[in-house]
Amino acid sequence: MTEFVKLTYGDKEYQLPIVVGTEGEKAIDISKLRQQTGLITLDTGYANTGSCMSEITFMDGENGILRYRGIPVEQLAEQSSFKETAYLLINGKLPTQKELIQFSVLLNDHSLVHEDMRAFYENYPRSSHPMGILSSMVSALRSFYPELQNFGEEINMTVTRLLSKVRTLAAMSYKISRGHKVVYPRPDLAYCANFLNMMFDSPVRPYEIDEDVVKALNVFWILHADHEQNCSTSAVRMVGSAWVTLYAAISAGIAALWGPLHGGANQAVIEMLADIAENKNMKQVVQRAKEKNNSFRLMGFGHRVYKTFDPRMKIMKEMCDTLLDKLNISDPLLDVAKELEEIALKDDYFLENNLYPNVDFYSGIVLRAIGIPTNMFTVMFAIGRLPGWIAQWKESIDDPKWKLCRPRQIYTGPRETQYVPIEKR
Ligand code: ACO
Repeated sequence: MTEFVKLTYGDKEYQLPIVVGTEGEKAIDISKLRQQTGLITLDTGYANTGSCMSEITFMDGENGILRYRGIPVEQLAEQSSFKETAYLLINGKLPTQKELIQFSVLLNDHSLVHEDMRAFYENYPRSSHPMGILSSMVSALRSFYPELQNFGEEINMTVTRLLSKVRTLAAMSYKISRGHKVVYPRPDLAYCANFLNMMFDSPVRPYEIDEDVVKALNVFWILHADHEQNCSTSAVRMVGSAWVTLYAAISAGIAALWGPLHGGANQAVIEMLADIAENKNMKQVVQRAKEKNNSFRLMGFGHRVYKTFDPRMKIMKEMCDTLLDKLNISDPLLDVAKELEEIALKDDYFLENNLYPNVDFYSGIVLRAIGIPTNMFTVMFAIGRLPGWIAQWKESIDDPKWKLCRPRQIYTGPRETQYVPIEKR
């Protein structure tokens, strides 16, 4: 039976239905609010606004729970591969053995990038940030594969192309930025190993694939694979709602992810930890993050939804310890990170504001151990988030209630004002 919320406005009373999710979360359905009352809602930053109903990812920020299609992220990190998790997110179920093989074949078949795209890379200034390059390259794919539309089988083709090519595009951008020869994808290597080989193989130093590193990359990408309606995913859904192609919607997601308050935090965390290690200024950094009139924030801390430990952070921290141990690496930034976490978690400011380390706090140390350069960290996040963006985009376009995303506003500018010709101003 539907529950209602009563809204009294003026001398009228309205009944607004309550929508309930499968995990018992509740929302007030305001879709008829303006039509019935003339009012809109105002929610800066959308902290209280549900933008859609979704079957993909469940997050409980109070209890630190994250599940993809119902499966806890801890189980996926331990037992699944990134490729299988991508399949799960996009198709709504785990693949059978046969389906997984078919998926692998398709990913292999689509892994090459049109040779003409290399010319783009060669003309970017060497100092360009790889996220900017990736965003425009993904958008450019539309021009190289123009025949595909947003319908049925063609969508599946575009999806597979994108999943496969993004990995090649990212590795190419790294190689070209260093002035090195591009390494092509290999049919005998699985998704993660193939990426590592494209990044690090060289004619003078063949890359040796280490299973611990491959496992770490699988886990890193699984942990980033989806996170319901975050900033970049909302960008993908919103841009996608204008009926652009998947490429354009994903390109918008990459641009949103680049921001330091979102995916760009993984780069910002390492820069902050390196600064602390070099200048021995941990106390000042913590102090600065707490100052009311200082916009500086402790990077890798805090989250819009998690008000306790981010479950991904716990897995990432554990993996960080294991990987560094296995590779026999001692990273001074790991010690700085652990000390900083300990200080912050005892500090009233961070406790009162529910500020706990998020996924980005330890992820950069894992990436450094794998050999990924700092300016590629957010690109690594983007490759990981791609299945989630695709699944969310697909869900939105398959929704019979799909609408153009178009919020309203409360105007606070001048009332009607007369134009003054330039000579009279
Ligand atoms: N350091 C210091 N203070 C912080 C931090 C932080 N990392 N995060 C939030 N706060 C403070 C805010 O200044 C605010 O204080 P105020 O009420 O006195 O103004 C209070 O805590 C609440 O913060 P909001 O900004 O309202 O919370 P919001 O949900 O909007 O922010 C965000 C979430 C953007 C992630 C924030 O915690 C932040 O900037 N963190 C640092 C950047 C970061 O790590 N981003 C990655 C997030 S995970 C991801 O996207 C993959």
